Amino acid sequence: MIDLRSDTVTRPSEGMRAAMAAAEVGDDVYGEDPTVNRLEAEVARLLGKEAALFCPSGTMSNLVAILTATHPGEEVLVDREAHVLHYELAGAAVVGGAQLRNFDAPNAGCPTPEQLLELERLNDPGHEPRAALLCLEQTHNRRGGTLATPAELRAAAGTAREMGMLVHLDGARLGNAAARLGVPLRDLAECADSVNFSLSKGLGCPVGSLWVGGRKARERAHVWRKRLGGGMRQAGVLAAAGLYALEHQLPRLGDDHEKARRLSCALQGAPGLEVDEDRVQTNIVLLQTRRRADEVIARAAGEGVLLTAFGQHTVRCVTHLDVSLAQMDEAAAAISRAAG
Ligand SMILES: Cc1ncc(COP(=O)(O)O)c(C=O)c1O
Repeated sequence: MIDLRSDTVTRPSEGMRAAMAAAEVGDDVYGEDPTVNRLEAEVARLLGKEAALFCPSGTMSNLVAILTATHPGEEVLVDREAHVLHYELAGAAVVGGAQLRNFDAPNAGCPTPEQLLELERLNDPGHEPRAALLCLEQTHNRRGGTLATPAELRAAAGTAREMGMLVHLDGARLGNAAARLGVPLRDLAECADSVNFSLSKGLGCPVGSLWVGGRKARERAHVWRKRLGGGMRQAGVLAAAGLYALEHQLPRLGDDHEKARRLSCALQGAPGLEVDEDRVQTNIVLLQTRRRADEVIARAAGEGVLLTAFGQHTVRCVTHLDVSLAQMDEAAAAISRAAG
C-alpha cells in the first residue's frame, strides 16, 4: 500500500526509537522531566518565543491556545476552511464557550486587513460578542498545503491587534512552510502571540504538538492543559522523539514537497481529475474529481493507494517520510485508473 491519507501515518524510525528508549525522564506534571523541558526550550527558541508547552495533540494545543486567549462568549475569527473549524469537533465551543466566526480567505486562509476591518463590530457590548482572537493556519491544510508570506501574516496580525484581538497561528505544518519559503521558523511565528507546532505530521513523531508563546500566557496554558487531561508524567520518551525530529527530520521536509510536485506533474491530463499545480506548494495535493470522492478513494485502495476525501469531489493526497519519490509515479498511475 502507498499510504497518502496523511503525513500522520508515518512510523517512528529506528533512530527515533533508539532516542526514545534512551530518554532521561522525570514527572512532567511536576515540571521535572528534563527531556520535555529541553524540547520545550528548543521549540520556543526556534520559534522566537519565550516558552512552550508539550501537548499530546495539535487539537489540544489549538484548544489550549483558544482557552488561554478568550473568555466564554467571545469570538474567534477563522478562515472558513480552517482546521480548527472543520476537524476539532467544535472543542472551542463545547469547552470554551467560544463563537467561531468565519471569513473566506482564498490565499492560504490569511485575510487581508480590509477583510478583517469589514468584520469589525459596531462597539455595542449590549448586543455584540467581543472578537478576542484571530486564528491563522500555516500551511493551510484544507486549502491544499498553501502558504501565506511573512508579510501577509504580519499585515493580518497587525490589523487584528488594532482591532483588539490576540493572534494564534495553527502551525501544525509550520516546518513545511519554512522549508518552502526558505525562512527561519521564527519569521513565520513572529506574527502570532501563540503557535501550535506539531511533531506528529511531517516530522514523523508518534505523538505530540507544542503550544508556543509568552511566559505569562504559558501559566494559563498550563492550567488549561491539566484541566483537559493533558498533563503527562514521564513524557520524556515522547519528547525525545521530538528532539530527534528537530535534528533529523526538520531539515528534510523539502523532500516531501518534491514528492508532491512529482505526483501532481504525473497526474496532469489524467482523465476524470484536475490538479491545480499552482496550489501544490508543500506536501499536499488536492484533486478535483469527476467521480464522487468516496468512489475514487475505494477504487484507488483497490489499486494499492490510500487517499482521503476532502469534499464530495475533492480528494487529498499527502506526501511524507514513509513514501518515496519513485513511488509517486506508481501512485499517479493507480490514481489515474481510479479516477478515470
Ligand atoms: C492544520 C492542522 N491543525 C491541527 C491538526 C490537529 O492535530 P492532531 O491530529 O495532532 O490533533 C491537524 C491534524 O491533521 C492539522 O492538519
